[in-house]
Amino acid sequence: MAEPSRILIKGGKVVNEDCSVISDVYIENGKIVEVGPNLQIPAGVRVINATDKLVIPGGIDTHTHMELAFMGTKAVDDFHIGTKVKKEMETLAKEKGVNSFKMFMAYKDVFMLQDSELYAAFAQCKEIGAIAQVHAENGDLIAEGAKKMLSMGIRGPEGHELCRPEEVEAEATQRAITIAHVVNCPLYVVHVMSKSAAKVVADARRDGRVVFGEPIAAGLGTDGTHYWHKDWAHAAGFVMGPPLRPDPSTLAYLMDLLANDDLSVTGTDNCTFSVCQKALGKDDFTKIPNGVNGVEDRMSVIWERGVHSGKMDENRFVAVTSSNAAKIFNFYPQKGRIAKNSDADVVVWDPNLTRRISAKTHHQAVDYNIFEGMECHGIPIVTISRGKVVYEDRQFHVSPGQGKFIHRGPFSEFVYKRIRQRDQVGRPAAVIRKPYEGKVISV
Ligand code: URP
Ligand code: ZN
Ligand code: ZN
Ligand code: ZN
Repeated sequence: MAEPSRILIKGGKVVNEDCSVISDVYIENGKIVEVGPNLQIPAGVRVINATDKLVIPGGIDTHTHMELAFMGTKAVDDFHIGTKVKKEMETLAKEKGVNSFKMFMAYKDVFMLQDSELYAAFAQCKEIGAIAQVHAENGDLIAEGAKKMLSMGIRGPEGHELCRPEEVEAEATQRAITIAHVVNCPLYVVHVMSKSAAKVVADARRDGRVVFGEPIAAGLGTDGTHYWHKDWAHAAGFVMGPPLRPDPSTLAYLMDLLANDDLSVTGTDNCTFSVCQKALGKDDFTKIPNGVNGVEDRMSVIWERGVHSGKMDENRFVAVTSSNAAKIFNFYPQKGRIAKNSDADVVVWDPNLTRRISAKTHHQAVDYNIFEGMECHGIPIVTISRGKVVYEDRQFHVSPGQGKFIHRGPFSEFVYKRIRQRDQVGRPAAVIRKPYEGKVISV
């Protein structure tokens, strides 16, 4: 049976970032046509009953690596896009709808940029109206730390964290913020993993810097104590950069900052390698492909640790799982809002049902799950993507190629308004003086 292009979601609580209202949502041909109470809709429309459920905007994962070729192997979950260099950046921003670029301060001799290169890249981002993103870790210190751990006979996954402690992340975060501020370029710090780095971002925001911090599902849902697990495969499964932190209070701290807008959005950095791929580093932690899962479980983990725990309300949940991402990356309110004329990306969410996360039941290609055994309140009942029901009754109705690239224009207002104004009023001016007429030594 062909998928009806007209759907009425009836009687749910429509949750946007700024308010929650009991409303119906009427969808036609991929768009939300009407939001309001007791909508009168012609016969023949498919009705989804959302009584006692929440109706939320579809989640936007800000950060994934599908099929990433990395550290001698390739991420098992598919789809990836990667780019570099100055002219290409301009073409991508002006013609191809790409408005963010990730720069690496880690991975020495592979991706790592020096400060002068970061300066040039940030300056170019600002010129073309893009958002500079950084992987903030001091690559030189990691390289030295890794040598030291190996020389001490530490070859297992615990060495991965020990060679790059929190301050290595915090220092690079502070440096990136300083460089971005000098250039007056907006900065987005991807995968904020430690209390120290999160505090650097929070302090910078309070000092008026245009900076956004992105904690990820892994960092909000689990911790780095696993690196010390006796089973090598278990420990290696959590290896990612920056690492999860062994301080178990980290995840609650990151969630507090996310709830209070010190951190802004959530991604996953989903970059999955199965155990046999991780095993490339079985005798040397520096060779374990970096990356963990998250894309499937992000919404549930954030609901559980954020909303169910009482740290944030349902509206903040929407802000950090979709609306803020849509604003930063310049496609709001096309996405990230349940409103007339927005794309019909909608999730009917049951906050009371629970599920237990497990690799045995997940839909990802990777053969383990870092959230294994975690019980989560809040599960999707129905997911609608551009007006089509893609998930219902625990079944997917999707096919490869159904996804659509969203063209994102440069100079997102949400990000660039303050930047532009500062350029105008903050321009330094030379002091007007009489020429110096005294003696000058001869050299
Ligand atoms: O360990 C990670 N984070 N893998 C993905 C690549 C990156 O640095 O984001
Ligand atoms: Zn990264
Ligand atoms: Zn463990
Ligand atoms: Zn990443």
